[in-house]
Amino acid sequence: MNSVKISGYGDDLTVDGIRIGDLSPDEHQNIEKTKGGQNYSPLEDVVVSKVKDSSTLIARIPDPDDIKKYIETELIDGLCCYSAVNQGQLNQTIVDSVIEHLSNEKLPTVPRSIRHKYMSAFLLAATGITGMDKVVPKVAGVESWELSFKISRRWGFYKKGIPEEKIIIVGATGNFHGRSVAAISMSDDEESRTGFGPFLPGIELVPFNDIDSLKLLFEEKGDRIASFMVEPIQGEAGVIVPDSDYFTMVAKLCKKHNILLAMDEVQTGFGRTGKNFAHQLFNVQPDIMGCGKAAGGGILPVSFVAGRKDVIDVLTPGSEGSTFGGYPLASVVGTYAIKVLVEEHLADNAKIQGDYLMSHLNEIKDEYPDKIKEVRGRGLLTAFEMYNEKNLNGHTVSVELLNHGVYAKETHQTTVRLAPALTINKYQIDRLSDAIRSVIKGL
Ligand SMILES: Cc1ncc(COP(=O)(O)O)c(C=O)c1O
Repeated sequence: MNSVKISGYGDDLTVDGIRIGDLSPDEHQNIEKTKGGQNYSPLEDVVVSKVKDSSTLIARIPDPDDIKKYIETELIDGLCCYSAVNQGQLNQTIVDSVIEHLSNEKLPTVPRSIRHKYMSAFLLAATGITGMDKVVPKVAGVESWELSFKISRRWGFYKKGIPEEKIIIVGATGNFHGRSVAAISMSDDEESRTGFGPFLPGIELVPFNDIDSLKLLFEEKGDRIASFMVEPIQGEAGVIVPDSDYFTMVAKLCKKHNILLAMDEVQTGFGRTGKNFAHQLFNVQPDIMGCGKAAGGGILPVSFVAGRKDVIDVLTPGSEGSTFGGYPLASVVGTYAIKVLVEEHLADNAKIQGDYLMSHLNEIKDEYPDKIKEVRGRGLLTAFEMYNEKNLNGHTVSVELLNHGVYAKETHQTTVRLAPALTINKYQIDRLSDAIRSVIKGL
């Protein structure tokens, strides 16, 4: 029988005699390459070790004098786990809530087939902040999208009367909703799809931010369409912000054809864009929406679907479920993630610091108009796109930013996204911007 000996905490965490505090970045890389699936290619020669403050990480890089050893360095976290850490790394209020509930309140772990008292807190908080009638908890971001997809289909079948095999769900080109088979069935990114087919039928795409195409499709097939599922701002596509009147026209069209407007707020929600939810930027109300990432306060994976009563009510006992969706710890963390969003005014800070970051980025664009093509964003969901030239490579920029003490990552070859914690301060934005300026200058 296989066995493994495990002991210690932090650097002393030791597995079969290997103490992780002794491993060089090179050794970490080797373990990951030989023992892990290669579905990521992390930045080379850097290993994150711990948190310094809400926007600063301590990382290990090879010791220039001895490659088998490491030195520690500070990194401004310009990405905050793809917007999962809006509340800042180790937000004290959320950490305290976890410790208090685990140590003193003796928090149980039970499934949804028995009621627990913390679910009520989460449902009250999540309906309160979203202004929606009902909420269904899930775990990963993709699951909130997938459940919105399933609810859309069921609503199309039960409420709109579309025969099951005829139901169409419409998505937007360039979308990113996660990695499940349903989500990649909607994707038009070949890298995410190749070899994973066959895909789900009943999905059609229209170009994002193109109201005429949507109108045409709705006119042609509206009686078979259950929902239009869309990100309010496309994050993974490179922070693509639609025209200011796009969503009001979308909402009108959806109403006219009795089609649900289903929004994916997994990346844009929880204050990221300067509003609690990005659809509020465009003055529309989705019929159903999915949230994830920062819904877990940067500590736990927590996601949920929020929607109108008549939409969520197509779910019936036994038709859906999740062992860890809304279990007690997730309910506590989810509730406190909302408390921090409100009490620390995260959306307001995202607007203030986001405008400040954008002013820096625009200055850099003006200084290097031959290198930076466009600067985009709302709140602290921002990106700059470079011209498609050999020396202007997003990956090179990410690597160089690391050398300047900043962690950020390209989304496409020429675009670099910046999405720091919403607790970031002016001084840290200055440091982030100085690093970008130096890197762009050196290209
Ligand atoms: C808009 C959007 N939806 C869904 C997801 C998937 O979330 P997860 O990776 O937690 O499943 C992401 C992740 O980046 C996202 O940006």
